[in-house]
Amino acid sequence: MELELRINGVVESLDIAPNESLLTLLHQQGYYSVKHGCETGECGACTVLVDGIARPSCVMLAAQAGGCTLTTVEYLGNARKLHPLQDAFAEVGAIQCGFCTPGMLLSAYALLQRNPQPDEQAVRDALSGNLCRCTGYAKPVQAVLRAAAILRGETVNPLTYDSVQRHEEQLTNVAGNTAKFATVTSPMTPVGASGGSGRHAFQVVGNSLHGPAAIKLATGKAAFTEDVMLAKGLHARILTSPHAHALIRSIDITAAKALPGVHAVLTYQDVPRVLYSSVERSTPGGGLRDQYCLDYTVRYVGDRVAAIAAETAEIAEQALRLIEVEYRQLPAIFDTRQALEPNAPQLHQEGEGISEPTRNLAARIRIERGDVERAFASADLIVEGEYVLPQTQAAPLENHSVVSYFDEDDALVIRTGTQSPHHVQRTVAQVLGIPPRRIKVLKTNAGGDFGAKQEVVLEDICALLTVATNRPVTLTYSRQEELRSRVRHAHVVRMKTAVKRDGTILANQLIVLANTGAYGTHPLTNGGTTTAEVLELYPCANIRFAADVLYTNLPPAAVTAGYEMAQVAFALECHMDEIAKQCGVDALALRRKNWLKAGSQRVLAETPSGFASCGLSQCLQVVEERLQWNAKRTHHNGNGRYLRGVGVALSLYTPGVSGATSGAFIKLNEDGSFDLSIGNGGTSDTQTMLTQMAAEILGVALGDVLLHIGATDSSPAEIATSSSATLYTSGGAVVRAAEQIRRQVLVVAGRMLNTLPEALSIQAGIVSAPSKKSISIAQIAQYALRAEQHQIMTTITWKSQLPPTSFAAQGVEVEVDTETGMLRVLKTICAVDGGQFINPMLSEGQIQGSIAQALGAGIFEEVLYDQKGTPLTKSFRDYHIYNALDMPEMHTTLIETSDSSVPFGTKSVSEVVFNGIAPAVANAVANALGTRIRHLPMTPERILRAIHAQNKK
Ligand code: FES
Repeated sequence: MELELRINGVVESLDIAPNESLLTLLHQQGYYSVKHGCETGECGACTVLVDGIARPSCVMLAAQAGGCTLTTVEYLGNARKLHPLQDAFAEVGAIQCGFCTPGMLLSAYALLQRNPQPDEQAVRDALSGNLCRCTGYAKPVQAVLRAAAILRGETVNPLTYDSVQRHEEQLTNVAGNTAKFATVTSPMTPVGASGGSGRHAFQVVGNSLHGPAAIKLATGKAAFTEDVMLAKGLHARILTSPHAHALIRSIDITAAKALPGVHAVLTYQDVPRVLYSSVERSTPGGGLRDQYCLDYTVRYVGDRVAAIAAETAEIAEQALRLIEVEYRQLPAIFDTRQALEPNAPQLHQEGEGISEPTRNLAARIRIERGDVERAFASADLIVEGEYVLPQTQAAPLENHSVVSYFDEDDALVIRTGTQSPHHVQRTVAQVLGIPPRRIKVLKTNAGGDFGAKQEVVLEDICALLTVATNRPVTLTYSRQEELRSRVRHAHVVRMKTAVKRDGTILANQLIVLANTGAYGTHPLTNGGTTTAEVLELYPCANIRFAADVLYTNLPPAAVTAGYEMAQVAFALECHMDEIAKQCGVDALALRRKNWLKAGSQRVLAETPSGFASCGLSQCLQVVEERLQWNAKRTHHNGNGRYLRGVGVALSLYTPGVSGATSGAFIKLNEDGSFDLSIGNGGTSDTQTMLTQMAAEILGVALGDVLLHIGATDSSPAEIATSSSATLYTSGGAVVRAAEQIRRQVLVVAGRMLNTLPEALSIQAGIVSAPSKKSISIAQIAQYALRAEQHQIMTTITWKSQLPPTSFAAQGVEVEVDTETGMLRVLKTICAVDGGQFINPMLSEGQIQGSIAQALGAGIFEEVLYDQKGTPLTKSFRDYHIYNALDMPEMHTTLIETSDSSVPFGTKSVSEVVFNGIAPAVANAVANALGTRIRHLPMTPERILRAIHAQNKK
């Protein structure tokens, strides 16, 4: 049917299908700023203005928009002339992955059209339909208020970040020597930066800048995976299992194949039977290989059965319904304790490298130090507790999506938002049985990651469909599929601690049962030393850590934010409050008595290593004061129906990437700009920070360094996959490459100026000699190329050591409605030791985003199933994540410490906060109610049950 409408001021006449959504229409017309995040109008990523009103276009038929005026973010402004809202979003750091940004900007634009002077509540209200998983909403709200003031013609204050606190500390280093650590010193401190005497010596590092990615994202120009239009492209869909555990007795695809428009139908009979791991580790074959691309056994509701490529998504879905499958159902298990039982059904008969397939054990880890039993025998007090954490989901706003096609060189190209393009290349090559050199993986912008995009999830099946059809194929999960694709391990954690009467910890025992679902994607890492590291927070001579990671007939558990330390961190920090209560000591005093200090040795390390810096004491001091701990902990409580409480939790986090290899390539161009190529830059904010590091060393502005990431044919391999590790891994390579380039630049400049290179300095792209003669870097590049006939460039490989550990203290104040069980977090106070902050504004944004995610994990988020293992959590209605109205008041303090082992002394900041928020909330609830909830999330039902149980006593 014919449809006439006005899009961004231009009248268009379009031919549409009667059932076509407005989102589909706009995307097909190239308005890529309109994003697909759900199909139920709940996430706001597809927001457009329809006659000036913000509407989700995914639930609106295109036909309904006939005669309307539509506005997308492309209308607001472009890179040459930004709208004040776009400018403010970039300026205040309100854009992280940027997937939600166009929708948010339009909701804000509509608000300011009708109310030029909104207050904070009005802004939050306007943005409440736009979910964001990255920012915690504080900066978007700040941006809208700032833009509103600018639009009213008011003068706005320059942005400042005075929340950074620096401290010098007297440390005992790991060799036992006492050393004075300056605020920022590093062997990698750039030449010419005052010898690294402090952060103010830097020109670019330490400044709150936004990178070019922010402008692309604010104007809707950034290309995510689906944002390409390929000629003759096909759409793919996957048929999934309705049973939790079954054998496929027969599968008939005749009718599906015969449907006009269908180009390929694949089942296990059509693909190579190759065992693989969806998360290959750093060494080839290092992962746990227990998956087939398509198999005759299905192990969870949602496991793959068949894949279809067709001319349209509708035809592909119709074809799915024509496939006839006969299953023989097998007994299923959903609980880790069931999985351990002697006669439990076995999920994997053929998996290689599985610890004990007959016992459904994906991994078993045992770590013991000292004499734990003896310490328990000699203790004044033994405190025990069991803590239960459910499956949750990373819920990035962008669902997994892949586009694959053959390029002009007949290379199989895979566009994906993965964090690990080289892993994808290797795994797909293995599954398809073709050489890696014939596969080119292009890393696109990712609409949130949080661990969800470190695995091969759809890339293999999409590539197989391209091979089968010789056509471009797009495969994208729906939100329902996304929610059951990968989850966070459900945990049962048992703690047992031996203490002296004064609260001194003598022994700590932590036992974990982790549910990895049908496939073991990260079991060894998660159950191993990374998870056990939480016990380092309170080092003692006697430690026992035991973890069994078990298969069940639920969706596979993947790594998610906090790298699975969050579950054990929750148990440990709740347990510390329980110990304090039983010992009759203050919960903070107990922590101070037992915590690790800068210079402490790691008690779990196989080889001696220590914590070179630790800002825990400064972090806790800030939280204690700002939370008014002494006043509120004992005299809180409100009265009657609403009870208030405060709680604190500490946390630490070390990205588990020791020994990972990364690389960087830099070349100087004739115009004085630098191309910097790396394998994995993480999210847009870490990319900005990496660019800042390079610009600092090269002596140029941020905009002079052009960052290129993650094309397997042109970028160096990056083994580490997590964003939190990137600053350390890619950062190490970037810093060393930039140092080499700087030396090359100075050597050429020395020849041009007849001066020794050591006597030269670089600032703002100009190289100066003591004689006051100077030349630009562009002149040096041209001289090298034309007069000396060589290009200034370098390639670096860097192997990481153990990254530095970040520390944080989290405080929260809560209010509990004792009649409804509703829990409201009123305030969060976080102080984070992030080493040197490369970009305080972006670090603060990462922390605020982590707070929002962690509050969700503590209070709302849980993936639920019925008794047959069928997911009940199907949409954002069922899986509530925090929106702008849910968020509490947030206070963040950045504590700078010094760690000379890393690029610019920086540490990761977001995951350490994620790990500490939920236990702080649980401790505050226990403070408010006088009874403890040990089972997450703290839903109204659980709270009411706890209140009733207490009342019965
Ligand atoms: Fe909002 Fe990533 S910046 S979802």
